[in-house]
Amino acid sequence: MSTIDNKAVLSFTDGTPSLEMPVYKGTIGPDVIDIRALYNKTGKFTYDPGFLSTAACNSTITYIDGDKGELLYRGYPIEQLAVNCDFLEVAHLLWNGELPNQAQKNEFVNHVTRHTMVHEQMSRFFQGFRRDAHPMAVMVGTVGALSAFYHDSLDISDAHHREVSAIRLIAKLPTLVAMTYKYTIGQPFVYPRNDLSYAGNFMHMMFSNPCEAYKVNDVLVRAMDRIFILHADHEQNASTSTVRLSGSSGANPFACIAAGIACLWGPAHGGANEACLNMLEELQANGGEAKLGEFIAKVKDKNSGVKLMGFGHRVYKNYDPRAKLMRETCHEVLEVLGLQNDPLFKLAMALEKVALEDDYFVSRKLYPNVDYYSGIVQRAIGIPVPLFTAIFALARTVGWIAQWNEMISDTEQKIGRPRQLYKGAALRTVLPIGKR
Ligand code: SDX
Repeated sequence: MSTIDNKAVLSFTDGTPSLEMPVYKGTIGPDVIDIRALYNKTGKFTYDPGFLSTAACNSTITYIDGDKGELLYRGYPIEQLAVNCDFLEVAHLLWNGELPNQAQKNEFVNHVTRHTMVHEQMSRFFQGFRRDAHPMAVMVGTVGALSAFYHDSLDISDAHHREVSAIRLIAKLPTLVAMTYKYTIGQPFVYPRNDLSYAGNFMHMMFSNPCEAYKVNDVLVRAMDRIFILHADHEQNASTSTVRLSGSSGANPFACIAAGIACLWGPAHGGANEACLNMLEELQANGGEAKLGEFIAKVKDKNSGVKLMGFGHRVYKNYDPRAKLMRETCHEVLEVLGLQNDPLFKLAMALEKVALEDDYFVSRKLYPNVDYYSGIVQRAIGIPVPLFTAIFALARTVGWIAQWNEMISDTEQKIGRPRQLYKGAALRTVLPIGKR
């Protein structure tokens, strides 16, 4: 239970007695007003569609300061983690609360490595999909199907079961994403290799084939690993809230992660990286930098329904720190691949410059978010555009699991069941069909 640091008094002009409510302070960030007694005491609900001013839980995992453009995983700045750690160290941090020492890291990596294979019958699920199925449709189906294979780790009240499920999910998501890719291009599935790093093994399963030796490119592996780190967690975003809400009913972890994947798919959320790259490619095809002014005018015209994908954020009202790191990674990868003059990267930077000098974006505090550059670097690495969000889901599974586990362990947690402002028909009587 949080300590009471202050009080808020809510008074009404309709004669309802005023109500005093506790106010809690976090370690950093906004205070919260505990309104749980409001309905019982006043018969009134709060109203906050989209949860603009609502804290749905208390958490110790990730902190975002939208005004400063700051992102901390368990207190560590994302900029430091992206440079000094690899993805499995960050996974250990998000899940256990501390960065691992070498012995703890070796044990964690060994655990994950030995769970990267999926049950051989999983491959049969793929046969049911069209080859041109969207990878996220396949991921929702196959991750949910994992719960059909692991009856020995579905008791969410058992911490050991939760840990086994967590390791299985972190370990098997890359295998399933790579299988999804291989299925869409008609190549055979590639088994994981235990002698490779997490990101190296993913690149191996994605790009190697039985006909020739495949050597992972260390620079691309490092870039992939950094992309995983930047997408690992992000406080109570839409898909994380979906995972928490699903978990609050007692659903098993595989079902909860599948629900998170479904939510992440939307273009306003994780689907933005695919939408952003498609937007840049369309811009490139229709005149490139010469047409930026025309495109920005369309974005500013509400009737056009056109948004600048990869821009704007519910929390960041400053530059998303992940976008900065992603742009640097973009630069490094394009340099190594001899694509410094990649027209799409140059177009993205030109478009960013035009937008950030335009009052429409400045006044609305719209800056590039994590999705703005991630598509360019993934395309350069060789990841097909429709797979971008599946890779986002792969990385975010670590954060979803950490948040899900925190929710299950939270003594204050109850099943999530919001109420509503009812604006429908008042009570009325059904007439026989002859009288309707
Ligand atoms: C992710 O929540 C998270 O943490 C998510 C995420 C994570 O790691 O989990 O960070 C990942 O989802 C990043 C966001 C990816 N989505 C996109 O890039 C899609 C484009 N962005 C927008 O759809 C939008 O910015 C949202 C959905 C991201 C945020 O929407 P909000 O907070 O509800 O803001 P809003 O829609 O109320 O916008 C405020 C104003 C509006 O104009 P007015 O009505 O005030 O005149 O800004 C405008 C919007 O029309 N606006 C945009 C815009 N985003 C907002 N105008 C043009 N292009 C945009 N991208």
